[in-house]
Amino acid sequence: MLKINLIENSLDKVKADIEIIFTKDIKNEEDRQILENLSFEAKDESAVLLAELGKIYVGFEDDDYDCISLAIATAIKKFNTTRFKSAKISLEENLNLKALVEGALLSSYSFERYKSKDKKSERQNLFICVDKLSNERKEILKSSLQIAKAVNKTRDMVNTPPMDFYPKVMAKKAKKIAKESNLECKVYGEKYLKENGMNAMLSVGRASCHESKLIHLAYKPKEAKKKIVLVGKGLTYDSGGLSLKPSDFMVTMKADKSGGCAVLGIMSAVAKLNLPYEVHGIVGAVENMIGGNAYKPDDVLRAKNGTTVEVRNTDAEGRLVLLDCLCYAQDEIKNIDYIFDYATLTGACVVGVGEYTSGIMGNNDELKAKVVSSALSSGEYATALDFNRYLRKTVKSEIADICNIANTRYGGAVTAGIFLDKFIYEENKEKWIHHDIAGPAFVEKSWGYNPHGASGAGVRMTLEFLKNLS
Ligand code: BES
Ligand code: ZN
Ligand code: ZN
Repeated sequence: MLKINLIENSLDKVKADIEIIFTKDIKNEEDRQILENLSFEAKDESAVLLAELGKIYVGFEDDDYDCISLAIATAIKKFNTTRFKSAKISLEENLNLKALVEGALLSSYSFERYKSKDKKSERQNLFICVDKLSNERKEILKSSLQIAKAVNKTRDMVNTPPMDFYPKVMAKKAKKIAKESNLECKVYGEKYLKENGMNAMLSVGRASCHESKLIHLAYKPKEAKKKIVLVGKGLTYDSGGLSLKPSDFMVTMKADKSGGCAVLGIMSAVAKLNLPYEVHGIVGAVENMIGGNAYKPDDVLRAKNGTTVEVRNTDAEGRLVLLDCLCYAQDEIKNIDYIFDYATLTGACVVGVGEYTSGIMGNNDELKAKVVSSALSSGEYATALDFNRYLRKTVKSEIADICNIANTRYGGAVTAGIFLDKFIYEENKEKWIHHDIAGPAFVEKSWGYNPHGASGAGVRMTLEFLKNLS
């Protein structure tokens, strides 16, 4: 694990095994010769280790979050190829400290719980050196540490295999987070779901040997300026159900709990960041399996708000869990300012916008733009996807109020969003945002500061959105 140390001292006074130097152009003439001979170019993602000189040179092209977080990630990867224990870097006046800290902590993350040999138990240190430290930068350091911690906590949960992370475990995690962060926590089982007409969510989990859980965390500071509700899809495993996934597509479906885990990760940080808002985190923790009592294509389910849903594909289960959770949220919490949901909802979103980007949907264009812009400045990629009147017609059902799949092969991410919209109450229509994080939530080929596995998608963009509210 990497420890970040912000040190108020000049670089040459701080002792470390290696110095990291970010460069657009190499100032030191001697080094320039060596680097030229090594064909080093000062570009994003290029780095060279000069072990004898105790230096890692890293190229970068711009001063923004993306380039700086990528530069430190590139440096850390190089650093990790050595046996050195400590590195130092000078915090120049215009260097983006948030990008530096988050990039360092996110890129040094690794999930080792299931390795029989401890690969790296020794601690590594990164010293960020600056002559004079402003209070503003101290605050940035503090919040960036909390944000990176929340992302890595989310990654740990998502990465945990389904045999060890099922709805009850997720509920236990939520209780632990509540205790650590002083949050209210309620957990409901299937008896509650039955009594409260949450039959859609209940049906999805019926064939699993693990009981479904509805988790509700709440952070209520004394003088809350706004009320925000976050709802997450917590499919601890998605086999597809009777509309069974082909084997190749089933692998990685432990990550179908990413939306729920992101909500838990965000909740773990809101109190620590002292945000002046009431924030609720609601997660539907369910396992979608097969069996004699599995819900079926052709079933018609009655949702919490009375709407009936024709099931034509049991693999479109996320929306069934979410709809009851969205109803629960809107029934239980009044005068909501924002209601956001997070889900690895559709493969179509990954096809449409690529695996790095989340799809942002809703009825309020201005809000969608704000969410996208918060995402981009937080270091996450997101793009708005639009509803339209014709796609709205595609989720009609002949026998029920709505169908859980669209009658068109196209626009699957948008039609899933449109489906959810049917369960957003009139008073909340303009306050709702749906985040389809199916692409970035789980990384199969590592990129930037994301190693293989969960990325913690949704956490940084939401904390940034909340920060920007004030
Ligand atoms: N969890 C999946 C979506 C998914 C796919 C997430 C790939 C991450 C990577 C979801 O439950 C699902 O299976 N959706 C179906 C919907 C379809 C049946 C309308 C899909 O995308 O194929
Ligand atoms: Zn599915
Ligand atoms: Zn799913």
